[in-house]
Amino acid sequence: MKRTKIKDLLSSTEFGRQVVVKGWVKTFRNDRFIAINDGSTLNNIQAVVDFEHTGEALLKRLTTGAAVSVTGELVESLGKGQRVEVKVTELEILGDSDAEKFPLQPKKHSLEFLREIAHLRFRTNTFNAVFKIRHHLAFAVHQFFYSKGFVYMHTPVITGSDAEGAGEMFRVSTIDFDNIPRNEDGTVDYTADFFGKPTNLTVSGQLEGELAAMAFSDIYTFGPTFRAENSNTTRHLAEFWMIEPEMAFYDIRDNMDLAEELLKYVIKTALENCPDELEFLRNRLLEEEKSKPQNERSDLDLIAKLNFCLENEFERLTYTEAVEVLRNSKPNQKKQFKYPIEGWGADLQSEHERYLVEKHYKKPVILTDYPADIKSFYMRLNDPDAQGRRTVRAMDILFPGIGEIVGGSQREERYDHLVGRMDEIGIPRHEMDWYLDTRRFGSVPHSGFGLGFERLVLFVTGMTNIRDVIPFPRTPKNAEF
Ligand code: 4AD
Ligand code: MG
Repeated sequence: MKRTKIKDLLSSTEFGRQVVVKGWVKTFRNDRFIAINDGSTLNNIQAVVDFEHTGEALLKRLTTGAAVSVTGELVESLGKGQRVEVKVTELEILGDSDAEKFPLQPKKHSLEFLREIAHLRFRTNTFNAVFKIRHHLAFAVHQFFYSKGFVYMHTPVITGSDAEGAGEMFRVSTIDFDNIPRNEDGTVDYTADFFGKPTNLTVSGQLEGELAAMAFSDIYTFGPTFRAENSNTTRHLAEFWMIEPEMAFYDIRDNMDLAEELLKYVIKTALENCPDELEFLRNRLLEEEKSKPQNERSDLDLIAKLNFCLENEFERLTYTEAVEVLRNSKPNQKKQFKYPIEGWGADLQSEHERYLVEKHYKKPVILTDYPADIKSFYMRLNDPDAQGRRTVRAMDILFPGIGEIVGGSQREERYDHLVGRMDEIGIPRHEMDWYLDTRRFGSVPHSGFGLGFERLVLFVTGMTNIRDVIPFPRTPKNAEF
């Protein structure tokens, strides 16, 4: 007989039907009731075994984590909280699980503990919910772009360039560290390396994406991205996934509209497709709040937060306007920001961003037109303002509880301006010759952005540490599994 997934059985009304259920034991109580889960739903199915027929030896092996196959009749359940159960006629243990050694017990484990056993945490309800939502969000991203006729472009993981010019790259090399080949002047002889030149893992697919946009008009990438930034925070990973659309003939306004539409679309899809998972995580968060002292509790309701995001237009303002707002602000009664607002031109600290989003506007904010000196070389220069200050058409989207979720810009499509900026920063022209061809042959105004996928999953699931929304997190000094 073919196995039926638990999700389908739980909504079935075919009482009397013979079914086969396969899954893992969550609990076994009173020598009679097995709660089985197969990952298809957060809910378990109850399988009722009969001591007489099953025998003690088999029942002893029904420990948390063991894999089982049960065959029996689907019957209406008299128990509370479940409609159906399986009256077992045949029980087979597919894989034993030593109760003494299995680290997941039927109780609440802390997220910190579960992070240490990331290879087993898939089996908890929390991570079942988180990764199911992650899956639906990824699918929604593809649906969104597919419906708009964007072409999904695979950009390389190994590259010879630094797309962000920030120098935060992981080197890819086959050079033997114990026996480094050197030129006469002592520098490393890269001709001996696999590619014959220094290469690294990509920090962004944008530059290659721009090349493709100059042919297909609208493309997007969605792939792994690597940053060797030594930021041990709850928002940074060394390996994360990024969605990077790139559109010919889009200016910064079109770019902002697309980013806002994308974010709202994927959040709406999660609300529609993952009601059980979101409800579970919402309750989990409410529980967590209850365990805090009264004055530290927030009344945050995950589902209300997501709906709020859908119903409100994101606030749009320039960096210069944001600096004014921050200067006139009183973040709290007693003290100013930990990092005071420096003069115009300094980058905003995450506490400033969070103030704007969480305290001042109380909704997502799109900040534009940042000082040129704190942004990447490829962003389009604005004409200098009345004070002679130079800004670029950058746009960052800031989300409550997250900070920056999207970073993007209108691109500098004018060849002379672009090479001028590269010279200024010290990016060698010959290394970027292929990129400069986009500006030599049929250059057009174009724009794009990068959406950090894990930051999106953080927002939608209400989790607070980015290590808990990617299956196998890579962070400084941590690349286990
Ligand atoms: O702002 P970033 O660095 O922008 C770029 O890489 C552009 N090339 C994107 C583009 O215009 N095509 O990164 C974009 C987003 C950030 O807003 C953030 O959400 C996420 O990527 N991000 C990270 N997420 C997790 N861990 C990290 N270390 C991240 N660095 C950036
Ligand atoms: Mg950024």
